[in-house]
Amino acid sequence: MDVSDGTILVMKERAQQAAGNSYCRYSRFPVGAAVLTETGEIHTGCNVENVSYGLTVCAERTAIFKAISEGCRKILAVVVYTPTEHAVTPCGACRQVINEFGPNARIVSFCASEHRIDTALDRLLPHPFQAF
Ligand code: THU
Repeated sequence: MDVSDGTILVMKERAQQAAGNSYCRYSRFPVGAAVLTETGEIHTGCNVENVSYGLTVCAERTAIFKAISEGCRKILAVVVYTPTEHAVTPCGACRQVINEFGPNARIVSFCASEHRIDTALDRLLPHPFQAF
């Protein structure tokens, strides 16, 4: 199902708000994400860092795990916001997690400037790991 540009803009606002809650005392790199489910709900998340560095969870996975734990099983779109000059796309680990619930999801990244990246998960991760 196509996700409208209007919905994407609402998601951008929510992702930007979520970036404000980022716990990024080690990297100083706040990230916010918003996930659209098949029922039209929007779930948000931010990156949550840890003194053990490797335990850090990205904003995208925070948002996805919140959605899944609320009963969602299908993701239609993911929006990322960073207060940077250039937009950033989800990391490799997050791409594999998005693939689990939204292999054809629209992925849009926004930042503090007009720059944006509007793409799709199957373009960012053309050959996901699939065991079955
Ligand atoms: N980060 C995300 O939240 N999402 C990504 O897709 C890439 C990186 C976070 C992890 C870490 O807290 C900070 O950005 C710097 O890597």
